[in-house]
Amino acid sequence: KKMVIFASGRGSNAIALHDAVEAGTINAEIKALVCDIPGAPVMDRAKEWGVPVILADRKSFDSKAAFEKYILDAIEPYQADIICLAGFMRLLSGDFISHYEHKMLNIHPALLPSFRGLHAQRQAVEAGVKIAGCTVHFVVPDMDAGPIILQSAVPVYEDDTEDTLAARILTKEHPTYVRAAALFCDDKLTIDGNVVKGTQE
Ligand code: GRF
Repeated sequence: KKMVIFASGRGSNAIALHDAVEAGTINAEIKALVCDIPGAPVMDRAKEWGVPVILADRKSFDSKAAFEKYILDAIEPYQADIICLAGFMRLLSGDFISHYEHKMLNIHPALLPSFRGLHAQRQAVEAGVKIAGCTVHFVVPDMDAGPIILQSAVPVYEDDTEDTLAARILTKEHPTYVRAAALFCDDKLTIDGNVVKGTQE
C-alpha cells in the first residue's frame, strides 16, 4: 500500500510507523510526509529516511480551502491508499476527507469517545478516570469521532500529571498504531456503520 503520513511535531508515531514499514510489519511504502509546522522535528526524520516532505504552512495561505487544495494537489501524484495522521494538529475539512474516505487513520491519546480534542491526557487526569489509553480510528469530519479500529489502555495513578500520563499512553500509541495500520494494509478491516470489523483474530 502507498502511505502518506501527516504530522506536525515530534514525530514519534511517524517514526514507529516508519520503523514498522522498514521491518516489514506494515505492508506499505511511505511515499511522502506532510507537515504544517515549519521547523518541526518530524521533517528532519523524513529527510533522513529519504521520504519527500511537503511543508504546508497554514499562514502562507489566505484560506483553509487554499491550504487544503495545496496539500491535495501535492499528494495527488502519490495515489495514497492510506493516510496516517500522526500528531497532525489541524482539523481537515469534510471536503478534504471525502477524497480519502475510509483511507485516513488517526491516533488520539484517549479512550474515545471520552476526551476528544486537545489536551486529552489532561482531561483524563482532571476527570479522575482510573484507566486511560489511546485510540486509532478512521477519520470523519467530526473531530476524533470516526469508527474505532483499536484501543489500548493504561492505568492512571493518583500522582499522575498530564505529562506522566501522556508518557505512559505514548508507549502504547506506537504499537497500537502499527498494528492498526498493518491490519488496514493487509485489507483485514471492514467498516459496518460505526463498527470496524476484522481487528480480532
Ligand atoms: C500523540 O500523543 C498523538 O496521540 C497525538 O499527538 C501526539 C503526537 O506525538 N495526536 P508524536 O508527534 O507522534 O510524537
